[in-house]
Amino acid sequence: MPPGDAEVVLSYPNKAERSDIIKSTPRQFLIMNGESAKNISSIPENSFILDDNFFVLNELIREGTKVNLYYLDPPYGTGFDFHSRDLEHAYKDSMGPAAYIEFMRRRLILMRETMADDGSIYVHIGHQMLGHLKVVMDEVFGSDNFRNLITRRKCSSKNFTSKQYANINDYILFYSKTKSYKWNKPGIDPEQDWIEREYPKFDNIGRRYKLVPVHAPGTRNGETGKQWRGMMPPPGKHWQYVPDKLEELDRQGDIHWSRNGNPRRKVYWSSDKKTALTDYWDQYRDAHHQSIKITGYPTEKNLAMVKMIVGASSDEGDLVVDPFCGSGTTLHAARDLKRRYLGIDASFSAAKATIRRMRHGLERMGDYVNKHEKKAESPPLPSANRQEEQACGFVVDSQLFDAYPQEIQDISEV
Ligand SMILES: C[S@@+](CC[C@H](N)C(=O)[O-])C[C@H]1O[C@@H](n2cnc3c(N)ncnc32)[C@H](O)[C@@H]1O
Repeated sequence: MPPGDAEVVLSYPNKAERSDIIKSTPRQFLIMNGESAKNISSIPENSFILDDNFFVLNELIREGTKVNLYYLDPPYGTGFDFHSRDLEHAYKDSMGPAAYIEFMRRRLILMRETMADDGSIYVHIGHQMLGHLKVVMDEVFGSDNFRNLITRRKCSSKNFTSKQYANINDYILFYSKTKSYKWNKPGIDPEQDWIEREYPKFDNIGRRYKLVPVHAPGTRNGETGKQWRGMMPPPGKHWQYVPDKLEELDRQGDIHWSRNGNPRRKVYWSSDKKTALTDYWDQYRDAHHQSIKITGYPTEKNLAMVKMIVGASSDEGDLVVDPFCGSGTTLHAARDLKRRYLGIDASFSAAKATIRRMRHGLERMGDYVNKHEKKAESPPLPSANRQEEQACGFVVDSQLFDAYPQEIQDISEV
């Protein structure tokens, strides 16, 4: 290969060999069942796992697990610490650039190793490390498997005082493992003014329609290139349908004839018509008003957005994994859409938020504000709200359990 065609790779200190990264580092996992912890030989589906995801991803390789979809929203490399709405410490995001990129690269290599051949991966990230991560993902997944760089509007424009443009977006890098990947084309309901512009006419029973040509580019030698009603298709074009079909459309009233005798086809509006989603997502902002339901975990992502991703890139029964799962948004989306799921996070606060959400559901954002103000009086969640515990298993690394038995017990009882 000419040297100029080689892939670009990042170079930095302590870049580990791929073979050392996927070397197995066996750990023992426990499943929490109320107060008791039981050794398990493999990680059960539909669980949250409290651990550094490096060990869990290695375990998934060892078990031969095949993941259909990864959605991950790792720390962005912001240099900040994050706290929940109850002011509990959630996680640190303070690695230097080289350490951060190697941290991500090692985990992305493990994820690729566990992906089904028709699987996909979405990495949600801020502007801070986006450029570096794109290069790393090209290196790990191959630039041929890059599908989109999605820009997501995360918030409304704030009162921004810095001497630079207001920062209102974050980004999602979407890759597939191979060129043959699952894709259930997502669509969105168009705005009313788009419908009015696009379908401006009404027929005599009130149906909206637009007019489109009955010819298409390119010449043809068959039926569609010949005369219909004494007319040839325009130069360089052919009829979209054979003459018999055009006659049938005309009999049904679906052809409109202009005053000078040009035929055009009527295309009717119907409410199940969607417009294709682009790589700019304006409609999935994070919680921004008091009636939105949330867990209160910092950097909690928009549930509708994650549901859209799960629907587009997996089928019912598939396995969806979020290795930086925070408050469990991906697990919630996957469960609602009848996928199998695994969520991993190293933070106690994330474990509590996820287990609570999967058992009791979400709370209105306003309730968090009130609760924080009147914390001492806050009533426990009604037990009638508690869903089947089996809805989400709680698995922990035995080393964490040995070091923090009481904290883990407390989480398993939320
Ligand atoms: C941006 S938050 C994820 C928020 C999540 N998408 C949600 O909707 O709630 C990033 C998460 O990554 C977790 N994390 C950071 N390093 C980790 C590691 N090595 N293993 C597992 N989780 C990790 C943090 O504890 C944090 O909860």
